Amino acid sequence: MADVLAQLAEQIEARTAPLAVIGLGYVGLPVACKFAQTGFRVMGLDLDAALVEAVNDGVCPIEGIEPGLAELVTEAVGSGRLRATTDPTGLAQARVALIAVPTPVDDQTHEPRHGALRGALESLAERMQPGTLVIVESTLAPGTMEGLVLPLLERVSDLEAGKDFWLGHCPERVMPGRLLHNIASCDRVVGGMTPAVAEVMISLYRHIVQAELDPTDLLTAELVKTGENAYRDVNIAFANEMALICEAAGADVYRVRDLLNKSPGRIMLMPGAGVGGECIPKDPWLLVGGAGSDGLARLVPAARAVNDGMPGHVLDLLAGALAEAGAELGGARVAVLGYAYLENSDDTRNSPSSRLVELLDLAGAAAVVHDPYVNPYAQAGGWGEAVRGCDAAVVMVAHDAYREIPLAALKELLSTPVLVDGRHVFSGKEADRAGLIYRCVGIGRPGSGTCASR
Ligand SMILES: NC(=O)c1ccc[n+]([C@@H]2O[C@H](COP(=O)([O-])OP(=O)(O)OC[C@H]3O[C@@H](n4cnc5c(N)ncnc54)[C@H](O)[C@@H]3O)[C@@H](O)[C@H]2O)c1
Repeated sequence: MADVLAQLAEQIEARTAPLAVIGLGYVGLPVACKFAQTGFRVMGLDLDAALVEAVNDGVCPIEGIEPGLAELVTEAVGSGRLRATTDPTGLAQARVALIAVPTPVDDQTHEPRHGALRGALESLAERMQPGTLVIVESTLAPGTMEGLVLPLLERVSDLEAGKDFWLGHCPERVMPGRLLHNIASCDRVVGGMTPAVAEVMISLYRHIVQAELDPTDLLTAELVKTGENAYRDVNIAFANEMALICEAAGADVYRVRDLLNKSPGRIMLMPGAGVGGECIPKDPWLLVGGAGSDGLARLVPAARAVNDGMPGHVLDLLAGALAEAGAELGGARVAVLGYAYLENSDDTRNSPSSRLVELLDLAGAAAVVHDPYVNPYAQAGGWGEAVRGCDAAVVMVAHDAYREIPLAALKELLSTPVLVDGRHVFSGKEADRAGLIYRCVGIGRPGSGTCASR
């Protein structure tokens, strides 16, 4: 079998090993295109027929600002080296299969939901030939490669891992807005079922990654990926908790942050209206739900609760500002500016704005959502049309287009002059000059804090 692995390494080196990428989303599509660009023949498999059709037409199905991706999709398809399909038959020809399907958690229990992963593995295992290297790029709860991926592939394919096929886990570090940049420039953790498999994986990724490729085992790779996103979530939760404390004390968290970060080794992140995206809200739960953490985790769930609470805090700020204007939240018409979870992106997964819209609805207020990148919220007339006649505007996403909003014009369009800023896009001074009642996450009003009342 060592010979077969060595042969595969040679085919990879020569870019003659046929590749399959299962799942052509934010992770799979750019990876498939990058390998096609370097000379590999790539089959891209997805369940979404419209997505497959767009890719085969050379059209990038991902919107938002994604530098270089649209051109790369056109180039990869035009070269004849990337072909997308909904038909898994061609998986039988793949010598390397990369899996990039969603690995969400349950909304209520936060347990990993493996439906897409199982589906992808079954499609592959039913057709996989001996000598295939299977690499999961999706993020996994620690222990999933050994506990689910390996036994499922063996059972369905009737092949033996380590003898007839090999397994690797190479989690992605991309983020929307920087997909191609991150693939090329971020160090990658390359988990192989054996050190020899990790070395072959490194020879594969060397074709598209210019940064360090760190060989390790499967479990360590799972822990690194879920750990790095849990780390970020906990750090954002700290910033958000500081924001709540500063607001309540009548201080400005952004000034506090600037000064706090002058202390050696302190890097406080930016607070905000909530945490969204495919990864940060769920990967901490994958860490907590994986091998080794049974009953141990306290900090990670607490951080999740802090971050999940931020849209509710925005609602409280809105209710306070409306009250100051002599208006009520119930019955108010509220412009929600930004529905993506990230600035200048079309990615709405786990968007804090969707939670705010739910909360507004529960409070009897009507949300008018605008987002320049997200259908159906990119109305003609832009943010101005969305805001016209509303009782308040709430900025949930720091899209570039919102940074340019002239506040005097905003005030003229609103029927009640209330602006809630979830991302510190504006300053209190600007808002005052425009005659707006302004609230910003993390900024207490002078004289309103608990210090003032002592
Ligand atoms: N989006 C990110 O920025 C990012 C970053 C790092 C890691 N990840 C991880 O990568 C994985 C994929 O995330 P994504 O953002 O690319 O998801 P995505 O939803 O953008 O894309 C996944 C694609 O997989 C397809 N799919 C689902 N089941 C399938 C099946 N059985 N067969 C074929 N196709 C199938 C879907 O139709 C979809 O097009 C997840 O584990 C995620 O946590 C995502």
